[in-house]
Amino acid sequence: MKQIIYLDNAATSWPKPESVYQVMDNFNRNIGANPGRGSSSKTLEAGEVLLDTREALAKLFHLPDISRIIFTKNITEAINTGLKGYLNPGDHIITSSMEHNAVVRPLSVLSKAGIEVTYVKCAPDGSLCPTDIEKAWQKNTRMICLTAASNVSGTIMPIKEVGLICRERGAVFMVDSAQGAGHIPIDVSEQNIDILTFTGHKGLFGPQGTGGFYLRPGLEIRSLIEGGTGSSSDKTVQPSFLPDKFESGTPNTPGIAGLGEGVNFILKTGLAAIQRHERKLMDMMIEGLKQIPRVTIYGPADSKRQTSVLSINLKGLECGELSFLLDERFGIITRSGLHCAPLAHDTIGTFRQGTCRLSISYFTKQEEIQVLLQGIAQLSKEANAV
Ligand code: ALA
Repeated sequence: MKQIIYLDNAATSWPKPESVYQVMDNFNRNIGANPGRGSSSKTLEAGEVLLDTREALAKLFHLPDISRIIFTKNITEAINTGLKGYLNPGDHIITSSMEHNAVVRPLSVLSKAGIEVTYVKCAPDGSLCPTDIEKAWQKNTRMICLTAASNVSGTIMPIKEVGLICRERGAVFMVDSAQGAGHIPIDVSEQNIDILTFTGHKGLFGPQGTGGFYLRPGLEIRSLIEGGTGSSSDKTVQPSFLPDKFESGTPNTPGIAGLGEGVNFILKTGLAAIQRHERKLMDMMIEGLKQIPRVTIYGPADSKRQTSVLSINLKGLECGELSFLLDERFGIITRSGLHCAPLAHDTIGTFRQGTCRLSISYFTKQEEIQVLLQGIAQLSKEANAV
């Protein structure tokens, strides 16, 4: 197999910790049953997998009640449930101009159904001023939805400050942690988060097809789908208790086993150690890129203000060409284009043009960043000669 340097961890992290592959394989080979359906030893064993993963997530995000952790097939489904399950016509929601289409597209549908949406404009480096949230407040504001960190510029958002504003003013605070979880600390009580949505396949080291949300005790929202849950099977109506209310149909149990193991890896390694490693590499990458002529770096260009995501362009090449050449010539995998976040690109000034996004993980090595920098320096020289 061609040697590759994988810098597309913001899309899906790869590789996973070895134990993630092992638990998924073990589930498929040796357990394989449907959780919560009947009372056989196998179904109970499969049920344990869900329980263990909920417990691991509860430790990582400081969640007080594991029954309020709901698994979905990805974070998009979780965000849709939070928005459509809570908001009603006449309500107002505030969000930011750095959001992913997972937020923006459902809001576009909701705005046609009588829900008012305000996008608070962020600065060109992607940062958000919390007082702008206060300025956008209306009498009918019922929810604030914010990404923990941008998937384009990596910019970390002031979650704690915005959470406090929501608590003081009495609105629900929903956080999209797709790019934050597993990279920066997330604590629902400290940050006053009412609905924490998460994805399994990025910083949490789980496989694709896993994700979910946590719903603060006392908060009621509607489910978007109903069906079999293995519980209250004598009833033709959906159970109202959690997590069953939101978990209809057979879950992705092998995937959830992998997610649990990914989260356990983070707990064992320590988020602080992961953050230290990623910051060191981000510093190296940012400083190295600053030395290369024709490179434009977007976002804060400061490892303390961003996660392990960096967007760049190289003058003389389209971002798609840059991504293609990095792959073809140096075996470096990146993601180019608009990253399903047109508003974020508009905010940082790269709408239509797009960027080439470099995203690292705990498994990225210093030598790989060196190869990246040499590769970009080489392409810069060649682009200059044309
Ligand atoms: N949302 C993912 C990304 O930013 C897929 O690449």
